Amino acid sequence: MLPQDVLERAAAEMLDVNNTGQSAMEMSHRSGDFLPVIEKTESLLREILAIPDNYRVLFLQGGAMMQFAMIPINIAGVSLGGARKTASYIDTGVWASKAIDEAGKYVKVRVAASSKDKNYTYIPDAPAPQADDAYYYICYNNTIFGTKWQVIPETGNTPLIADVSSCIASEPLDVSRFGLLFAGAQKNLGPAGCTIVIIRDDLIGAAPEWTPAMLRYDIFAKEKSLFNTPPCYCIYMIGLVLDWVKSTGGIDAMAERNRKKAALLYDCLDASRLFRSPVEKSCRSLMNVTFVINDDDAEKRGALEKLFLRGASERGLVNLAGHRLVGGLRASIYNAMPREGVEALVSFIKQFEKNTPRV
Ligand SMILES: Cc1ncc(COP(=O)(O)O)c(C=O)c1O
Repeated sequence: MLPQDVLERAAAEMLDVNNTGQSAMEMSHRSGDFLPVIEKTESLLREILAIPDNYRVLFLQGGAMMQFAMIPINIAGVSLGGARKTASYIDTGVWASKAIDEAGKYVKVRVAASSKDKNYTYIPDAPAPQADDAYYYICYNNTIFGTKWQVIPETGNTPLIADVSSCIASEPLDVSRFGLLFAGAQKNLGPAGCTIVIIRDDLIGAAPEWTPAMLRYDIFAKEKSLFNTPPCYCIYMIGLVLDWVKSTGGIDAMAERNRKKAALLYDCLDASRLFRSPVEKSCRSLMNVTFVINDDDAEKRGALEKLFLRGASERGLVNLAGHRLVGGLRASIYNAMPREGVEALVSFIKQFEKNTPRV
């Protein structure tokens, strides 16, 4: 979801942003009209996420998945013919696994820990980095399985890299503990089309000579994200969303609302006889609440899920099917989901349970 206020403001400004007589979609990215737009978005992001001065903010394209390649190439890529470097990855589900597969083309991947043994329903302990690790990679919030790291792993001098696509700006995060953070905009920040990379200065500039220009952090840092045409409208929309975050109390207030929304839903699931959360309590995501029907019979489970999804959709509660790779049910309650939305879901869960006979 995007906040209603943001969509209304975008509609009101569709024909004229900042008295330029232009929509943000029409602006030349090198014009004096667009520069204040991108500068405002960056400065709000820095303020809201408390990004230290020795980090650069890059607005890139290619989705979060492009970072699965850019990270190993730029941080640990070697010259043609050179020996591959090693990097540690923690496997916490689909997005971490995809990052592992992609990185394997450029570096020797060490899967330092995995929660695959229990279908990714928990976050494993993070072993200390090894001396030869060029970096240490985690997926902070696991969108599909509904788990989240609760503490930032201690990696000493080894740069810690995290995919924060599905939790950015949902609660405070100490940026200084990371070498690089990245997130696709489309969950908490705006429409799809822009990926934000927050990278510590000293990690920029190590890309090997064969790296395509469009995949080099140093070029985008030097050109202030304007090496080629950036996703101008998306960057403008991220600015509006960040205005909304600020005007509703900033990151602490956002975190407080998110914790309360998630607690409402988890409490309901924990008290339910028909539904349950498969995720270990200590590892639960604030953004993606996965749940399943509490029955060993797969056929019965499937039929009840279908019935649940149909009934929910009739009440305007949509997008509740689990990810196509794992099934089950999932409520993604990102920043813009109001408490009333979660209350409506809780009330439907209770009603559905009441109407489903015990067997
Ligand atoms: C944690 C995480 N990483 C990466 C991605 C992939 O993002 P994109 O589609 O922008 O490449 C997603 C998408 O859902 C995600 O949730």
